[in-house]
Amino acid sequence: MKNIILMTSTGSYLPKKKMSNHDISKLVDTSDEWIQQRSGIAFRHFVEKDELTSDMATNAAKKVIKNAKINAQDIDLIVVATTTPDLTFPATAVKVQKNLNSNAIAFDIQAVCAGFVYALSVGVSMLKDGFGEKCLVIGADSMSKILDWNDRTTSVLFGDGAGAVLLEASSNYGIIDCELGIDGSGADFLNMPAGGSLNRATEHTIKNKMHFVKQNGAAVFKHAVKGMYDITHKIMERNKISNENLKLFIAHQANKRIIDATALKMKLSNEQVFINIDKYANTTAASIPIALCDAYENNLLNKGDNLIMTAFGAGFT
Ligand code: UT7
Repeated sequence: MKNIILMTSTGSYLPKKKMSNHDISKLVDTSDEWIQQRSGIAFRHFVEKDELTSDMATNAAKKVIKNAKINAQDIDLIVVATTTPDLTFPATAVKVQKNLNSNAIAFDIQAVCAGFVYALSVGVSMLKDGFGEKCLVIGADSMSKILDWNDRTTSVLFGDGAGAVLLEASSNYGIIDCELGIDGSGADFLNMPAGGSLNRATEHTIKNKMHFVKQNGAAVFKHAVKGMYDITHKIMERNKISNENLKLFIAHQANKRIIDATALKMKLSNEQVFINIDKYANTTAASIPIALCDAYENNLLNKGDNLIMTAFGAGFT
């Protein structure tokens, strides 16, 4: 049994195509002012038609592998969190395994915007249980493929991208604790109604735009602030971490107002709260690892700093 699992390397990937709010306002009835004021978003990146979630996941993974100075063949586990898999089956992780020319066990996790923290928790547990030495945890989503450009309430909020970390055993410090939560009564507030076994693809589902994201934004907003506050408070209390010894709070980047409201409830200073939603919008399962990578590359994190990563997503997860 290994006791402490550490994130030893990070990497992220954003598709080349960058879209400003002004660009978006040519596709849907909105404005830069509305998007910035209501969400904090200024830009997002979108994949090209032939660029897949697995391609972005592979690119982020390659950066992690390069930064860690290891080979893909050294990796024992690949866990991919995604809501926009290349295919319903098999898992996107198997494609990443093939792209990397790795022999790792590979599977997907579906917990929407909280997918990365779920995948991280699974990776940590499996390494602790002796399933291997090195685990790649990846969050990757191409939400642009399921956005409805006739729905301004959702289409302006999302972007595409991928982020990844390498998990390895450590003797000094590492991931101290994980807490996962679900409120299944939230499923109706944010989902994609068709394409699964409930509503298989038919002329009717296509005509009624059932293969796109549907959201009750106000309901999700309210639950997100409470959900992220409650779970963060619980983990801080359990591990006796006070605001004074918390270096950085990385929350899922869905809306700057949600993060600000959560941070205000927690009484955190601005320096403790990481924000990059302005650059990438909501990248779903990729948001936390991209933020982590940005924070690390901007020298905001040092060995041994206390960091909390918190997410909230459809489900509610
Ligand atoms: O990753 C987890 C999942 N998602 C989230 O966490 C998102 C949670 N929700 C939110 O972030 C916010 O609820 C939104 C950003 C989606 C919406 O912000 P809001 O302050 O709750 O706005 P609203 O829905 O109350 O809409 C206000 C007004 C409406 O007009 P009226 O009825 O007041 O005349 C909307 O029609 O803004 C209008 N509106 C827009 N106007 C310009 C809605 N979307 C847009 C738009 N551009 N894109």
